[in-house]
Amino acid sequence: MDILEDDAHLYIWLGADQKDDFFPLPDFMIIMREFAQLCTRSFITMRNQRGYGTQRNWMAIRQELLYYVKGEPKFNVSAVYTDIPKILRGYYKKVNEKRTENLQRSKSRSIRAGNVWVDIQQVFYRMEENVPRCYAQKPLRAIERIIETSSNEDDIVTDFFSHSGTTLIAAERLNRRCFTMDIAPIFAELTIRRLENFRATGRTGWQWNNPFYEMSDENQT
Ligand SMILES: C[S@@+](CC[C@H](N)C(=O)[O-])C[C@H]1O[C@@H](n2cnc3c(N)ncnc32)[C@H](O)[C@@H]1O
Repeated sequence: MDILEDDAHLYIWLGADQKDDFFPLPDFMIIMREFAQLCTRSFITMRNQRGYGTQRNWMAIRQELLYYVKGEPKFNVSAVYTDIPKILRGYYKKVNEKRTENLQRSKSRSIRAGNVWVDIQQVFYRMEENVPRCYAQKPLRAIERIIETSSNEDDIVTDFFSHSGTTLIAAERLNRRCFTMDIAPIFAELTIRRLENFRATGRTGWQWNNPFYEMSDENQT
């Protein structure tokens, strides 16, 4: 907690294993109560497009994101307007026995993103930002939303669990200073390469191409 500014935002993206008492989400929430300087601010759920486990259970399509603040940091509300996602265009209603879309809610062109995010595409191999074999990669749009609402240009953004380096790329695009790290050297290397590749080509990822090009088949003698 000490490295946080007096006024700071803290986001924690973590799993809840439905086969194991939703571990670690509830345990983590309780541990966080020990940090008296932190206040809970929101509990965000992001909806994945693709899920798993449809045969004997509800399809699992959610990711959880805990949002805490220290002090009284500014929240940039104007950064969270988004196109109205199709599923929020209202419920269907019957008019003259015809099933129609209820467009009441879509008179305005945008809507404030609430704490259930249904408008962000999950990363998959066809997307430019995809980093092959980073199966926990977070979408750039989600991280950029967090950075834009919760920091200003030149502020410091830190991600202790870099993985594919999404936070670093997002910070670079939004002119924030970023410190990031990963316990696994392979992900630290990927993170560095992703930034170098972005600076050289403007591409945010490799789509399905191999970031370790020197190890690809055509480079083997
Ligand atoms: C879910 S991924 C993070 C996703 C990433 N923040 C993004 O935006 O794409 C978790 C990463 O944390 C790393 N990790 C796990 N334990 C760690 C630790 N104690 N210190 C640093 N990194 C760790 C893993 O190697 C893995 O790459």
